[in-house]
Amino acid sequence: MLSDEIKTVAYEDGKLVILDQTLLPGREEYTELKDAEDVYRAIKRLEVRGAPAIGVAAAYGVLVGINARMAGWDGTVPGFVRLSGEVCEYINSSRPTAVNLSWAVRGMTAARDEALEACSACGPEEAVKAALSAMERKAEAIHREDVESCRAMAEHGLTLLRPGMGLLTHCNAGALATTGYGTALGPIHLGHERGYGFRVFADETRPLLQGARLTAWELSKVGCDVTLICDNMASAVMRSGKIEAVLVGCDRMAANGDGANKIGTGGVAVLAKEYGIPFYMFVPMSTVDFGTPTGDDIVIEERDGDEIRTLWYEKPMAPEGIGTFNPAFDVTPAEYITAVVTEKGIARPPYAESLRELAGR
Ligand code: MRU
Repeated sequence: MLSDEIKTVAYEDGKLVILDQTLLPGREEYTELKDAEDVYRAIKRLEVRGAPAIGVAAAYGVLVGINARMAGWDGTVPGFVRLSGEVCEYINSSRPTAVNLSWAVRGMTAARDEALEACSACGPEEAVKAALSAMERKAEAIHREDVESCRAMAEHGLTLLRPGMGLLTHCNAGALATTGYGTALGPIHLGHERGYGFRVFADETRPLLQGARLTAWELSKVGCDVTLICDNMASAVMRSGKIEAVLVGCDRMAANGDGANKIGTGGVAVLAKEYGIPFYMFVPMSTVDFGTPTGDDIVIEERDGDEIRTLWYEKPMAPEGIGTFNPAFDVTPAEYITAVVTEKGIARPPYAESLRELAGR
């Protein structure tokens, strides 16, 4: 079972443990996040990454962060609301683009408020205990939903594929980016288990190499046929006829179907259209942001230029102090996306209508 092999985020007896993805593929090490500062750092540094996994880690992280600060609680309900609000805001500020982060944190705040409301006649100790246990149930529900929606997306996605197909993926939208089968890699894992014999090409995904370090690791670990290519080889591989579909994840999909995903995804989409290759984006409903009208309204994270200049090299590969531009994501316009695969089914253009219909809005 994939989930036995790869435990991206685990929570047991109040302990939050993540697989530190910055150490892969060389070392498979698990680390405990003990307070809000640990959670913030782990998300910011991409120790835990991928939109759904960030959401699950943030939900448990809010609990861990609050518990670590409870020694400073003033004993009142407003004091608890303040303390927990600060933890939520802090964790929510760790990365801006993946909407699952704010979605999960909002879910945790709502669970807290509902429990406090239901316990308005209780004393502060009892009210806070009720709030904390409601938040724990909420975090577990977010976790469970992620596992279930990955599985459902994998089944839906597999209906778009045939045995033996050549597939291209970008970044890592797999088990490492979620707590289940993954989003875009979900049907690949499921198909692999069912003997589909896919031939997968993984873009290395400059500058943080999620394709090389993570996708190649994850797929080869389960014995799936995976070939690593540099990002600038995608066109050549497509032209050679080896790619019959492109499968990618998403960090935030706007209401009109424009989808922000790892930098470079947009270029792959343009190439796929040019070569007549279907381009599928895998988007759990928790990643659709109906409050964001179009891709232009999505905040794109910009990261440190040293990720380009030096990070994965033994020595600097650019002149010292050279200017850089390092956006972590780009927006693929809706017209380049052949279909959007969600846990509720497959949406086709026009997405402004089909996504709402699937969401039941
Ligand atoms: O910066 P990262 O590694 O968190 O970016 C991850 C991606 O862009 C994934 O493709 C996206 O989160 C969807 S994964 C299920």
